[in-house]
Amino acid sequence: MARTVLAAPSLLSANFGNLAEEIRSIEAARADWIHVDVMDGHFAPNLSFGPKTVGDLRPVTGLPMDCHLMVENPQDFIKSFADAGADYFTFHVEAAVHSHRIIQSIKDAGMKPGICIVPGTPVHFLDEIAGELDLILVLLVNPGFGGQRMIVPCLEKLVTLSALRKEKGYHYLLSVDGGITTENAPEVIEKGADVLVAGSAFFQAADKAGAVKKLKGL
Ligand code: DX5
Ligand code: ZN
Repeated sequence: MARTVLAAPSLLSANFGNLAEEIRSIEAARADWIHVDVMDGHFAPNLSFGPKTVGDLRPVTGLPMDCHLMVENPQDFIKSFADAGADYFTFHVEAAVHSHRIIQSIKDAGMKPGICIVPGTPVHFLDEIAGELDLILVLLVNPGFGGQRMIVPCLEKLVTLSALRKEKGYHYLLSVDGGITTENAPEVIEKGADVLVAGSAFFQAADKAGAVKKLKGL
């Protein structure tokens, strides 16, 4: 049976002066999630959105808010993003010594926990916590900006994580982020991705609905 693949356009590539309209274009294109890239200028060399953005956009859409926190001390933001209505709270394993405890705190706050790994981080860093996660986000670029080219060897992490999930009976979704295009989507899906995050490939597309179909492998 064919796997369901989800498309999650990233607001980092949207027009920040018109985010409500941009979200409506995501819904009109029948994408599945809203990917919200949160950056603090320390963990990632850029600044973007905060919990107030998520809170102000919450009434605009019923689509899941897939928040990707590229921040130091992610535990400091759990309550504010939960109060704002975030659905997924994905933090970086590189930014947290006590990732197991943070995952419990995210669940206690009513959100779905995710963990992201940057290109330089081996997959086995997740061995002890993979079973606690609803989402694992494999970053295919170095964090901070949209429009970068994918670091192709990182795709092998999807193969490893798919095998781990099958072997252990874990339930996490596998998401990929960074450099995803309608051209490389088939290979990314074939490697095991369940969710494809796309910033520039969505917002620069003339035919957004067509782009979503290709990102979902349809
Ligand atoms: C990079 C972000 C990605 C980025 C994706 O730090 O985490 O989500 O916005 O943008 P594209 O799809 O243009 O590479
Ligand atoms: Zn992201």
